[in-house]
Amino acid sequence: MLDAAVRERLAVVGAGHVGLVYAAGLAELGHHVSVLDIDRDRIAALRRGIVPFFEPGLGDLVKKDLAVRRLLFSSQPGEVLKGAKMAFICVPTPSANDGGLDEGPMRRALQTIRRFSRRDRPIIVTKSTVSVGMNRYIKDLFRDRKVPVVSNPEYLREGSAMHDFFHPHRIVLGSDDGDAMAAVAKLYEGIDGPVFTTDPVTAELSKLASNAFLALKISFANSIARIASSNGGDVAETLRILGTDPRIGPGHLRAGLGFGGACLPKDLAAMEHLARRSAAPYELFAAAQAINRDQRQHVVDILTAKLMSLSGRRIAVLGLAFKADTDDVRESPSLALISELLDTGANVVTHDPMVKLRASSNGGVFATQRRSAVEAAKGAHALVIATEWPQYGKLDLTRLRRSMKGDLLVDARGVLEPAAARAAGFDYVAIGT
Ligand code: UDX
Repeated sequence: MLDAAVRERLAVVGAGHVGLVYAAGLAELGHHVSVLDIDRDRIAALRRGIVPFFEPGLGDLVKKDLAVRRLLFSSQPGEVLKGAKMAFICVPTPSANDGGLDEGPMRRALQTIRRFSRRDRPIIVTKSTVSVGMNRYIKDLFRDRKVPVVSNPEYLREGSAMHDFFHPHRIVLGSDDGDAMAAVAKLYEGIDGPVFTTDPVTAELSKLASNAFLALKISFANSIARIASSNGGDVAETLRILGTDPRIGPGHLRAGLGFGGACLPKDLAAMEHLARRSAAPYELFAAAQAINRDQRQHVVDILTAKLMSLSGRRIAVLGLAFKADTDDVRESPSLALISELLDTGANVVTHDPMVKLRASSNGGVFATQRRSAVEAAKGAHALVIATEWPQYGKLDLTRLRRSMKGDLLVDARGVLEPAAARAAGFDYVAIGT
């Protein structure tokens, strides 16, 4: 806990994944944090300690810091911004039609800060992933008041975001105002992680490049998987061997259904957009996106090759979340696969331990959901594991097989032991086998 002298009054704009994790983390460090969101229902729930999505550890911290009044939630900009020493912008930056980032929410948040912080001149800290040039845009917007702007990109992974807050691989601060950067760095005292202070463009670019590189690694792994499957190699083993080289590293080298979520797909597209805008080579980024899209088709192709036609066939898809340990379905490869399967005329039955399938929440996908994996598999001609939930690795495979009509199991996330699946009577196919 901090000395009273270094506790700051902070504003966080945006009560989404990033905003809430930073708000709770900064409050836990001892700062007084007020969070603003335009969604009144969300604010009302948060005031009662209810977090609108699943993120391990976040709910407990929110409740704890609400109780000691270090956290405040409001949809009144004046209440949040008045007296704040810094304003953290944590609003979404979704993909725009041209592949770049839609910075509309960001610009609206800036206008709100401009209107409601006339007297306070807070340091503006950008957390949201932005394209290169946002820091300069904000500086120009606030030129009359000489407001300092610091780019401080987040590197949180869903499912381990609280851990990532307290144990960051790095804290990046980009600004042309050294005092403002020092003030933001001071906030994180007590957190153990290397701090990089740099110029704004470098900070902005390092975030986009980081996510684009993670996405490239996954598409690389998926390309190797396709080569392995044509030649009889073991892709998991190949990638494990690759990952032992410290210049490569083992992370994000799992072949599978491809990457999804709120960050990697949009940031890779934004990187391509930025490369094109900069007259730089963009093909690498474009290819990684195409490979990613093709992974879903690859699974459809495997099913079609084995079952001849998918029309009228019953396919069980286990997992809806874009990855394990989250209830997030944004850009979920599983939902994209389900759409493609429905397009072929297949009947799709699903299960997810955490996500409830709602037609309205996933782009009009109509499939039925069961309460357990075994129920979903009942009468199915084939089963696909689409999310790497650890519990799918512990399923009673014999029971699962018995409940099905067919014997095809496509393990698109590599969670099962191939020998165990075959011993249970499955025609087992993994990506890369
Ligand atoms: C990512 C970045 O990791 C994080 O640093 C950034 O701040 C936000 O974006 P997140 O979206 O939570 O985090 O997901 P991540 O763990 O990176 O996984 C993204 C997708 O890639 C998931 O769909 C996952 O299933 C897939 N994936 C991941 C693979 O297919 N193979 C892998 O080896 C790793």
